[in-house]
Amino acid sequence: MSQSKPAPATNLVWHAHQVTREQRAQQKKQKPCVIWLTGLSGSGKSTLANALELRLFEAGQHSYLLDGDNIRQGLNKGLSFSVQDRIENIRRIGEVAKLFVDAGLIVLTAFISPFRADRASVRQLFKPDEFLEVYVKAPLDVCESRDPKGMYKKARAGQIKDFTGIDSPYEAPESPELVIDTGNSPLEESVAVLLDFLKARAVV
Ligand code: ADX
Repeated sequence: MSQSKPAPATNLVWHAHQVTREQRAQQKKQKPCVIWLTGLSGSGKSTLANALELRLFEAGQHSYLLDGDNIRQGLNKGLSFSVQDRIENIRRIGEVAKLFVDAGLIVLTAFISPFRADRASVRQLFKPDEFLEVYVKAPLDVCESRDPKGMYKKARAGQIKDFTGIDSPYEAPESPELVIDTGNSPLEESVAVLLDFLKARAVV
């Protein structure tokens, strides 16, 4: 007997919680938001996010870093790099980021997130000043020459399919809140630019 997939749940009611998102943020004395880093593999998203998180932590702020390589080994285990699965990857991360912002955290995300439409959908989950899109910009040849995980080499050799920038597209942001050019500036400089930006936005 063939079994069809059960229909998605209906009959759900949203419960308002007694402790509000404002109270959670106040308790942490901070302005929760998402700092959404997007860029090619090897552009420096994870390195930058790590360095920034350390600075936030040292300043006594409460943050959490969601990183593509790690999340894909847990929550998003089983997703491929097909267009459909990348869309689902980013959708789930958007929802997790939303929960963490609700919890009062400053969320840093480091995902290639190659498609404009998906980043725009995630943006819709937040208030206008809560979602800060940061384009971590480095030319493909620079990322390829860094090749920290040896993946570009494998992609060029045809051993990895659908690799972003090689045989899968990357759509650069058209109007991100910030562009960090990691092709030309050292890490500490990029972190300083990001911190200044967050200060200007009253996040730190
Ligand atoms: S995304 O496109 O769905 O946003 P994500 O950021 O989660 O990608 O994962 C990217 C990381 O997975 C890369 O940094 C790289 O280490 C690894 N990876 C493995 N295969 C691929 C691939 N085909 N394209 C891009 N990255 C890949």
